[in-house]
This record gives sequence, C-alpha cells and structure tokens, in this order.
Amino acid sequence: MNPATFRSAEATLETPVAPYADSGPVAACVRSGLSTRPRRLPPWLFYDEAGSVLFERITELPEYYLTRTERGILTAHASEMIALAAEGKELRIVELGAGSADKTRLLLAAAVAAQGRVLYEPVDVSATALDAAQERIEREIPGVTVAPRVMDYVHGLDLDAEGEDERRLVLYIGSSIGNFDPEDAARLLVGVRKALRPGDALLLGVDLVKDIPTLLAAYDDAAGVTAEFNLNVLARLNRELGANFNLRAFRHKAVWDAVHSRMEMYLESLAAQKVHVRALGLDVEFARRERIHTENSYKYAPGQAERMLESAGFAAAGNWSDADGWFGVCLGRAERNV
Ligand code: AVJ
Repeated sequence: MNPATFRSAEATLETPVAPYADSGPVAACVRSGLSTRPRRLPPWLFYDEAGSVLFERITELPEYYLTRTERGILTAHASEMIALAAEGKELRIVELGAGSADKTRLLLAAAVAAQGRVLYEPVDVSATALDAAQERIEREIPGVTVAPRVMDYVHGLDLDAEGEDERRLVLYIGSSIGNFDPEDAARLLVGVRKALRPGDALLLGVDLVKDIPTLLAAYDDAAGVTAEFNLNVLARLNRELGANFNLRAFRHKAVWDAVHSRMEMYLESLAAQKVHVRALGLDVEFARRERIHTENSYKYAPGQAERMLESAGFAAAGNWSDADGWFGVCLGRAERNV
C-alpha cells in the first residue's frame, strides 16, 4: 500500500505554531526510542489527559477483567488486609500512583472503620493528578486526610518520619508493577522497602497467568478502546512534539509472549512510510509491518509475587485471590534485616 493512501484530513490543516519542546522526558524518550531499532516508546506516555480518560474506559470494558477482579478481592477482604497491616497500631496509607479511585476507597473506608480516621499519602509524579485525588477523596470519605507527595517513586521513595506507634501500609495495586521488567520491578520493591520501618507493610496487586484468549481479549477489546488508547501515543507526539504520525497508517497489536510471560502491545506500521518529528528535527522511517513496542504487561505465576516480595526484604503476610485465580493481592511485611 502507498503511504499517500493514508493522508488524513487533519494533515492538510494549517500546522499550529506551538512552542514544541525539544527537551524534557517526552522528547528524550522519543529521541532514544524512535531513532534506534527495535522502535520502542515507554508506557507512561499513554497517560496524558486523553489517555487517562481512555484508560478509565478500559477499566469498564467487559474484556478487561483486571480492575473488576481486583476490586472484588478488595471488597471481600479490605478489613482483614487493614487489620493484618495495622497489628493494632494506627495505620497511615501510602499509595504509589494517585488514587486508583474506587479500589483505594475500599481500603481507606476499612481503615476509617477500624481506627476512626486515616492519613492517606498518595505519591505521584503529577501534581495535577494528586490535587484531583485529594479533592475527591476528602469530599467523599469523611475521616480521611489526604497528604499528597509529588515524587517519582520508581527511583526510590522518600517518606516523612512516622510516629513511634504508627504503621505504614504502602499500596501498589492495579498490577501497575506489571509494566516493569523483572529487574526493574525488583529494584522498585527494594526502593519501597528502604523507605519503610520493620513492621510496615506493602500491599501488591498482580495480574496472574491465565488462558491466552482471555489475555488477548483484555488487550484487544471488541469496542476498540485499547486500540485507541495505544494509538493515542502517536496523537500525543503529534500534539506535543509536532510529529506528523498518520493514525490511520498504524494499527494496534496485542501479542502474548509465553517466554517472558507478558502481554505486549505494539503499534504496527501498515506501510513503508516516513514520519517527521518537528521538535526534534528527526525523521523516522518505518518499513511495512515494522512495530513500535509500547507496553509490556507481565502476568505472574502463583507464588511469584510473594517470592519477589521476599527477595526485596518483605515477609509474606497475606495472600488473596478470586475464585478463578485470575488476580492476586499479597501483603508483605517489612522485615528487620534487609
Ligand atoms: C495500568 C499497567 C495495569 O497493563 O493492564 C490496559 C495498562 N494497557 N490496557 C495493564 C493497560 C492496556 C494496565 N496497567
């Protein structure tokens, strides 16, 4: 197919005069990820304003079992999780990533029920996301005080000193850890452990290995929302870096990689084509069928999350799943010796 076939209506509009940034994290990852092969872009690029809305829609799709399954586990066991973590002390709740809405709410409500109030410390790189979470949660759950922390927790976590008879519970739910390669996931957990005192805890949510058709459908839904979510990365580069990706000249692809036990998402070029990234003065040539790797989503074997926690200095203190064994939530207690 000829690339000209794909020329879109938008491409003929007058090019906006925008101060495209040639520095910053978006520019840096595009420069490094698209100037070498295989082409790759990091999954955090999904979550601009449009992408965050699309992700919310994904969590409501019939095929995307993750959110709903984890919510079911938390609904059934939130009080037990909170009691195990607190061990009779006053609990503070830290969350990595700003407020995953109703799932976090279940744990906060259980903590308020147990101790009358709770200090909630969401940690995120985005101050905007944190402000929105603070407003919403303080309004909706009386007894919760929100203390947002703007921080890039991937490279270590820096928390205030807690009181002598307080305990911290760090939430890392939603299978967010699934985006990290095993070594990076291990590093992240060690970083969390270093920020905690012995006795504090980490609640980790991981998606588990299951039949392949179920996995494939979750990452390639019939309504095409996941395709739109993936393609939004190219739209974002057009908006923010003045690139000229034709969204109709790429297609969403979801693949199961049994060797690495992960779902992979790609954007596949439908034709040989050249794309220009104005902010970077970069031309990128794509062969027909060449892919840009945009995401890995690791699926864990039963017991694997516990082993990862143990290697990072946590003792397995609780483990919950759904009846089908599709999703796992485990509690690790920070050990004395790391
Ligand atoms: C937010 C990383 C858990 O891997 O399932 C949803 C993101 N990607 N559909 C996941 C995602 C495609 C999601 N996580």
